[in-house]
Amino acid sequence: MEVARVLHMNKGSGDTSYAQNSTVQSKILSIAKPLMDEGILKILKKSIPESMGIADLGCSAGPNSLAVIMEIVDVIHAGCRSLDGSFPELRLFLNDLFNNDFNNIFASLPTFYNQIRKDKGPGFGPCYIAAVPGSFYGRLFPTNSLHFIHSSSSLHWLSQVPKSLDGGDRERGLYINKGKLYLSKSSPQCVLDAYLNQFEEDFSLFLSSRGEEVVSEGRMVLSFMGRTSSDPTTEESCYQWELLATALMTMVSEGLIEEEKVDSFNAPYFAPCPEELKSVVEKEGSFVLESVESFAVDWDGGAVDYQQYTTVAELSRARGQRVAKNIRAVVESMLGSHFGTHILDDLFRRYQDIVADYLSNASTKYINLVISLRKKD
Ligand SMILES: C[S@@+](CC[C@H](N)C(=O)[O-])C[C@H]1O[C@@H](n2cnc3c(N)ncnc32)[C@H](O)[C@@H]1O
Repeated sequence: MEVARVLHMNKGSGDTSYAQNSTVQSKILSIAKPLMDEGILKILKKSIPESMGIADLGCSAGPNSLAVIMEIVDVIHAGCRSLDGSFPELRLFLNDLFNNDFNNIFASLPTFYNQIRKDKGPGFGPCYIAAVPGSFYGRLFPTNSLHFIHSSSSLHWLSQVPKSLDGGDRERGLYINKGKLYLSKSSPQCVLDAYLNQFEEDFSLFLSSRGEEVVSEGRMVLSFMGRTSSDPTTEESCYQWELLATALMTMVSEGLIEEEKVDSFNAPYFAPCPEELKSVVEKEGSFVLESVESFAVDWDGGAVDYQQYTTVAELSRARGQRVAKNIRAVVESMLGSHFGTHILDDLFRRYQDIVADYLSNASTKYINLVISLRKKD
């Protein structure tokens, strides 16, 4: 799978769009906000740059994209006012892969600029916003041009499916992660190793690329799916994929999908634990890891109002529906390209029921890691 070409969140603002189905990611943004604010304030307290370069990596489209930028602008405005009152010129960059719905963001920019002018007054800025399409696993920006980098709900996507797993060996019918889409209790050790190796390679490349682009003492606050356990097959980091594989296998058993199709799909995804992160940051050497925090987040992002439902079954059904829509908005481009788009409605109806059934007995949550890094001198 060519991830940089295939992966994109569902476009537009319809019922299955990412814009309408990103409450989990929005919840994660609000949880990580104090750490992001703190990172920006630490830069300003050292000295307010004349021109400040800031990037949000994996910005996607929909309400979250500009909400992050507005939050960053708010913190800089308040921070500078409480310091010496001078404001930097702001260069704000929104990055995502080539197929991202950047037009959706551009269409909201007039309202965004008006709001900044209205709220912050004439002395603030100027603010220049630009899109930078491309993979964050490689250089995106000029040398020493950025002071702060933010990324949320994006770095758990790998640059590629680990090579030894991508597509399997079709000729010999050899698949080493049969019936699964990601790590699972039944995955052999070589699959676990392949995923960890790919993560280490990717994250190291991410750090070395940012190491060139970020000024000395510049900062990054990054949040992504992870795990607290050292076991990469725990439910907290894998089970959304396990249940999606179950839904696909029910379709295999009814002859709607070829089994080989499921066997040959592996997600370009990895949820690391803090020790794995620390080890890559130390080995790569461009940044100091100042903090790692973990947060548990409900699979429905807290979007389902529990008071509205009188029985556990009704509540679980509502949660199943929310989770299925969120996951669909994120993974549809990849699954559609591999299995064909004709299976998607049926697949996600099944997934919704399987998730509802699971959530009626389980309290599994996602684990989100938020890390703060400082560029070395
Ligand atoms: C779940 S969305 C998160 C969007 C937004 N940050 C939010 O919090 O709502 C993940 C985004 O990461 C992007 N992404 C994944 N891999 C990427 C890469 N290598 N380079 C740039 N963007 C990437 C995806 O295209 C997607 O838009």
